[in-house]
Amino acid sequence: MTDSNIISHTSAGCFDVFREQSGPPAELFPGSLAVLRHADVVRILEDHKSYSNVVSQHLSVPNGMDPPEHGPFRKLIEPYFSQARMDAFTPQCRTIARELINACLDEKETEVMQDLAAPYVLKVQCAWLGWPESMHDELWQWMEATRQAVKTKDRSALAEQAEHFTLMVQAQLDLRREAAANAPDDITTDLMKEQVNGRPLSDTEIISILRNWTAGEVGTLSASVGILMNFCAEHPDIQMQLREFRGHLEEAIDEILRMHAPLLSNRRVTRCPVNHGGETLPPDSKLTLVWEAANRDPAAFPCPEKFQWGRDPEKNLLWGKGIHVCPGAPLAKLQLKIFLRELLSQVREIRPGKRKCPASFPGTGFEELYLQLLH
Ligand code: HEM
Repeated sequence: MTDSNIISHTSAGCFDVFREQSGPPAELFPGSLAVLRHADVVRILEDHKSYSNVVSQHLSVPNGMDPPEHGPFRKLIEPYFSQARMDAFTPQCRTIARELINACLDEKETEVMQDLAAPYVLKVQCAWLGWPESMHDELWQWMEATRQAVKTKDRSALAEQAEHFTLMVQAQLDLRREAAANAPDDITTDLMKEQVNGRPLSDTEIISILRNWTAGEVGTLSASVGILMNFCAEHPDIQMQLREFRGHLEEAIDEILRMHAPLLSNRRVTRCPVNHGGETLPPDSKLTLVWEAANRDPAAFPCPEKFQWGRDPEKNLLWGKGIHVCPGAPLAKLQLKIFLRELLSQVREIRPGKRKCPASFPGTGFEELYLQLLH
């Protein structure tokens, strides 16, 4: 397949989007076709009859589900990201950001990924779910071990880490069950009371929901923090504009993360024969939707590599589109906006530091990022 609508992983044309990734291109998405153009990605996202989300045999609630199974689970989780929940969580989130940033101000240079990004997203995630502070370190180690296993494609280590996550979360569920009426009033307890299709959620489903909310997302969010801070350091003019137009931080975050994706891709599989660029793909063809490629497609975004205010938010695929569009976007936006606002308030200038090392595929953002935070 050489047509540029969909390009196989062995075609060279698609790899300019991975300019900051290390690792040999030929190993990207083995056995899957990379979908790169904005119009093709949108077409697939809007046609869940032809393109399925059931890409693995493991339960994934709700991302690995198709309609009609997907709908009731999706309806169940959406209220957890309501405006009221976000407003209630804002003060706690702000305190976490403020304290972490404050602790870095006396350093000559800060290694942002270890000292700010990862602790911030882990602390916020635990606070949001009602998990104890004692879980921070365990989650951190789990996150690192998972990242390493993904990087080295070590399937047995990945399975081990998946099981480790199950045990960590199962312990939280058991604690709440034992406490019965004295269980903490938090999101994890609320999830345990949910019903789907007229029956209670099973522990396997609850753990899968929490895996979907935690496993993928702490990595994506921590990559986002690094990408945003690096962008500010490298673009002092825009850093200045952000200080001036703090009411527009959300737009700026979406535009920066459009250019440098914190989440590389998601998968689909064809349910029936589909035509792309004059070629027919048979059922069960594996596809990888490459968010950064679609979001840098010049047909959708003129001068795609340039930060521009006022772009059409409908076109930005940072949060996906269609029935699987990110339900956690309000929480992610809240976390990123609060972090950036606190940073810009406490730090007079963010400058590049001595070294930065891009994350290796399939991670995105930075493995290591030194910045000067002048106050
Ligand atoms: C910067 C952070 C984030 C980004 C860039 C992001 C991006 C995305 C994208 C692109 C999708 C669509 C996937 C697809 O079509 O296959 C998605 C789905 C999803 N996201 Fe996020 N996400 C972020 C944070 C979060 C957070 C914080 C949560 C929850 C705590 C979350 C929960 C989910 C879930 C459950 C789905 C699957 C929805 C469904 O299948 O109906 N995300 N996300």
